[in-house]
Amino acid sequence: MKNLVLLGSTGSIGTNTLRLATDFPDRFRVVGLTAGSNSDKLLAQIRRFRPRCVALADAAAAERLRRRCGRQPDLRNLEIEILSGTEGLVRVATLEEADLVVSAIVGSAGLLPTFAAIGAKKTIALANKEPLVMAGSILQQEAQRQGITLLPVDSEHSAIFQSMSGQRRRDVRRLILTASGGPLLDLPIGKRRTIKPAQALKHPTWRMGSKISIDSATLMNKGLEVIEARWLFDIPPDRIDVVIHRQSIVHSMVEYLDGSVIAQMGVPDMRGPLGYALNYPERLPLGLPSLELTKVKALTFEPPDLKKFPCLGYAYEAIKIGGSLPAVLNAANEVAVRAYLEDRIGFLEIARLIRKTMDAHVPQAVKSLEDVLEADRWGREKAAKAVKEDGR
Ligand SMILES: NC(=O)c1ccc[n+]([C@@H]2O[C@H](COP(=O)([O-])OP(=O)(O)OC[C@H]3O[C@@H](n4cnc5c(N)ncnc54)[C@H](OP(=O)(O)O)[C@@H]3O)[C@@H](O)[C@H]2O)c1
Repeated sequence: MKNLVLLGSTGSIGTNTLRLATDFPDRFRVVGLTAGSNSDKLLAQIRRFRPRCVALADAAAAERLRRRCGRQPDLRNLEIEILSGTEGLVRVATLEEADLVVSAIVGSAGLLPTFAAIGAKKTIALANKEPLVMAGSILQQEAQRQGITLLPVDSEHSAIFQSMSGQRRRDVRRLILTASGGPLLDLPIGKRRTIKPAQALKHPTWRMGSKISIDSATLMNKGLEVIEARWLFDIPPDRIDVVIHRQSIVHSMVEYLDGSVIAQMGVPDMRGPLGYALNYPERLPLGLPSLELTKVKALTFEPPDLKKFPCLGYAYEAIKIGGSLPAVLNAANEVAVRAYLEDRIGFLEIARLIRKTMDAHVPQAVKSLEDVLEADRWGREKAAKAVKEDGR
């Protein structure tokens, strides 16, 4: 039986993880949950899973939750700690009884809790890619110091992890990340200006949170994944390629020195990579449908068009230059995506804003988490100013 802490339990990855905990009650016990502000959904999860400790980032939402739990006859006598703020998230992430922490907060808000969980020697199932983008070298150094493994949840990185199993890292020639291309793949550049969030959120194969869905439409998600792969597998970015693969069947591939390419395939369902990380190294009988290749018929691969998807190029640039630039890229992207979702800027402005913020930045070396947080603050301020200057 593994004791699970789930950071970001009310989100898309969080909900899928709880589905697995429900399907395999003899393997997983939920001991801690966190969310941002959704106290209604967290309350329902508390009722269902009875964790010992929960936290909401939003203090007012945590207070609401405390009052509501106090009024519910079935919850009043349960000894559940309800915490708030970053401190509360960190406390849940480091619960003594936790064996495995699923890191599934969206964005930079996951950095400190994830770092704390690594520091507390917890095995990490990592979905939240932004902390690795911002502070990859620092997180990996800490993981090595604590002797723990970061198990990838992102389907592409899980595929690479599986394709490298039993292989020597020095035999790897390159990693090949696949990208579905998102909902706007075939839309000409001229028609992108007027794309509304509702359209950009419609991912062809995956149901995900809004931030990652917009990142998929700009292909920034793939750029963030290139940086994530650089740190997870210690492979330089010039040996990480991206190909558009519309069917989302080949989740990613590894090419070896002898020219062999090992790919991992499966029906697109996040319970596959999640289940693999949660129960590693054993596989769970997930009950997912078999991959019927005769029905899929064709698997296609195309090069990405960097004119249509400049964000992918920006991410390569950021990781090649390194230092504080990836944290600034990430901060600018978070600010731009939020502004787009709130209809304060148009779709094409997302990339423009990131470019403008990166151009204004003089990259610095990052030696500590404080340096990373400073770069994040700088990037957010600069990008927010650009939204005001250039937005609607
Ligand atoms: N969805 C996927 O299929 C998928 C696949 C691969 C990787 N990922 C990665 O996994 C992460 C989560 O993605 P998602 O799609 O599950 O996102 P999501 O559906 O938007 O869920 C995000 C979770 O984070 C919480 N949260 C939001 N802001 C927070 C804050 N400031 N402090 C603490 N918690 C906060 C949310 O709580 P509230 O509900 O209260 O806002 C929610 O529980 C992302 O980094 C994404 O790139 C996702």
